[in-house]
Amino acid sequence: MTEHLRNPDDEHIPVMAKEALDLLQCKPGGIYVDATVGLGGHSLAILERIQPGGQLIGIDRDKESLEKAQSRLKPYAGSLRLLHDNYKNLPLILNNLASRPVDGILIDLGVSSYQLLSPERGFSFQSDVLLDMRMDRTQQWTAADLINNMPESELADIIYRYGEERLSRRIAAAIVQERSKAPVTRCRQLAEIISRTIKGRSNQGIHPATRTFQALRIAVNEELQGLEEFLSEAFSFLKPGGRIVVIAFHSLEDRIVKRAFRRLAGQCVCDAPPELCLCPRQTLASLLTPRPMTPGPEELAANPRARSARLRALERI
Ligand SMILES: C[S@@+](CC[C@H](N)C(=O)[O-])C[C@H]1O[C@@H](n2cnc3c(N)ncnc32)[C@H](O)[C@@H]1O
Repeated sequence: MTEHLRNPDDEHIPVMAKEALDLLQCKPGGIYVDATVGLGGHSLAILERIQPGGQLIGIDRDKESLEKAQSRLKPYAGSLRLLHDNYKNLPLILNNLASRPVDGILIDLGVSSYQLLSPERGFSFQSDVLLDMRMDRTQQWTAADLINNMPESELADIIYRYGEERLSRRIAAAIVQERSKAPVTRCRQLAEIISRTIKGRSNQGIHPATRTFQALRIAVNEELQGLEEFLSEAFSFLKPGGRIVVIAFHSLEDRIVKRAFRRLAGQCVCDAPPELCLCPRQTLASLLTPRPMTPGPEELAANPRARSARLRALERI
């Protein structure tokens, strides 16, 4: 199916839900956090399992997604607090809302299919709309602001680092040349600049703009900034035996999750040979997934979008 034939509102199949829910071990009466509610797929599954008496605190920085989730989760309104916020404010939120340490935290990272497939949100290189890409539309800067104002070298670095695009310098130079004539404000306009610039060079069967669009999205939403610190902070709100489950969708995110979890489990996170390692090695948790879990063949057949998912889980000792 092509992107524009799909209805974004239908995109609520939660990724690796069975694995995530099994690992969270949701119990009636428990307090849980869904830090990335989206359209509420995982939240619904959690709410079903924590009755009676359970409480779910749900967060998302995207107000529109939250509104859709709210109507979907209505039957459980009495057990649910939904908040339009950045999950990085979780410590503040839990200090205010949770009466005791929580039983489990789920974080399904990144952008949702709903956001990607809603043309007006400006994530897709196939739409002729404003380059926006904000998950939180109350945020001021958009992808267009970034593209038109960032110095060329920084733009190239972002495209290289977050898009893992080896032709980043060439692409940044082409963008800067175009914007000197007129601002680059539309998704298709940017996609065409990139296609013209790197056409014919190997891009492993993906659209030439894919990596650059991913990089811009990560930069606009500051997706990787502070993620490692946030995971440690979130962990500190778990009760002993409580669990944190994280689903990541690209290697940059997954590397950060892996590192944060290894650190909490008292393992080495440096590249030094063992005899020179100075990692603190304080064991606060046990790794429930020494290797990341990936979706099974049935899920992949039903939801090809799940293909890059990597799930990791940790239990507080
Ligand atoms: C992969 S989707 C989650 C889908 C959800 N689990 C479901 O079942 O529908 C990721 C969601 O996380 C939200 N998000 C991403 N970064 C966030 C952040 N820093 N704070 C709060 N929400 C965030 C996005 O707006 C998006 O709705």
